[in-house]
Amino acid sequence: MSEATTAGGQESGPAPVPLIDLVAQHHEIESEVTAAVCRVFAEQRFILGDEVAELEFELAGYCDAREAIGCASGTDALLLALMALEIGPGDEVITSPYSFFATASSIYRLGATPVFCDIDPASFNLDPHAVAEAMSPRTKAIMPVHLFGQCVEMEPLWRIAASAGIPIVEDACQAIGAEYQKRRAGVLGTLGCFSFFPTKNLGGAGDGGLITTDDASLASRVRRLRVHGEAGQYDHIEVGLNSRLDAVQAAVLRIKLRRLDSWTAARQRNARRYEVLFDEYGLLDCITLPGTQHDRRHVYNQYCVRVSSGQRDKVLAGLRERKIGCSVYYPKPLHLQTCFADLGYHAGDLPHAEQASRESLALPIYSELTEEQQERVVQGIAQSLGRTPQRSLRGRIPRPKFLSSGIRTGAAERTSEY
Ligand SMILES: Cc1ncc(COP(=O)(O)O)c(C=O)c1O
Repeated sequence: MSEATTAGGQESGPAPVPLIDLVAQHHEIESEVTAAVCRVFAEQRFILGDEVAELEFELAGYCDAREAIGCASGTDALLLALMALEIGPGDEVITSPYSFFATASSIYRLGATPVFCDIDPASFNLDPHAVAEAMSPRTKAIMPVHLFGQCVEMEPLWRIAASAGIPIVEDACQAIGAEYQKRRAGVLGTLGCFSFFPTKNLGGAGDGGLITTDDASLASRVRRLRVHGEAGQYDHIEVGLNSRLDAVQAAVLRIKLRRLDSWTAARQRNARRYEVLFDEYGLLDCITLPGTQHDRRHVYNQYCVRVSSGQRDKVLAGLRERKIGCSVYYPKPLHLQTCFADLGYHAGDLPHAEQASRESLALPIYSELTEEQQERVVQGIAQSLGRTPQRSLRGRIPRPKFLSSGIRTGAAERTSEY
């Protein structure tokens, strides 16, 4: 087991296991990143330019989209997509209450109303039945969130959106490379929105975002909106944002994009290892592992388990005490956020999202995580639950409940073939 050492060289217990280790990732690509950043500095073209255009081309190909448009963040990608669709006051956009804040704030900032529908507890993703029930004449778009790197069940949403004649805006900020029925996130709706926040699977050296679409006229509208609605030569034909992607970000992202599929395969391998470890440590009676539907490619931006019987916070504290990285995504669902009080939601309105907030726990899943580190995570959970960590090589505990409903874990999931 790797040990941390003090300044005096003495051993001070096992080394911490971080929730994510971007330094380890950087070591692999340091010389390439340095050369690319130096190239941008030599050219002194820091905003948009060829570097961004190349990245857009490469990412359009990666997502199988006709167009990709870089912007300043995932939040801005959502805003720009909604602006291009002319969502505004009086409009409703149906979305998930179990997501990062920007999902709902992008709708709210435009004066539209986020309408929160409950999630499917097995996947943490928007429940299409709840969406069907929430449709109203004011519904102008549906914004599914491919949470933690797994795509939403899209087919029912396609039917709902087609019969109402409204667009779908994918919040794919956590899901680059994820697939639904062999189609990539970003082309499962009218517009797809991505984030390059450093902890994303494709993370930049700062903020960045991207919009994908197959619709050429929406693409040119987004391109205009990201530069203050300028049609050329200081001619502003609408009010947009200043939301351009930096060349430095693009240069770094292009290097990382070449490795994205091997990093994704490593995340998938780590997910499979957790399945074995949790089983062998006999913890599947109180830990529910994330399920993966058979027609999805889960890219595991986060690996979130559920801890049952009100023990999540005990496990969280126990892991932190043992210097094992973990976090709660998300401790407060969006419909209960203070700033959305005027929307009129109350505790109990969306029980599955609220339960997920009480039970979910994100564990380290990054590509460089070793098997030994993963075993320490699982042992730490056992200890936090007051158990003696003991590994048995016999699988013994029943499979997680949701497996009986046609969902399976990532064990047999195909690894990256790209
Ligand atoms: C689901 C989701 N939506 C939107 C965003 C916003 O992205 P950004 O942080 O790049 O603005 C994030 C990023 O954390 C996210 O995870």
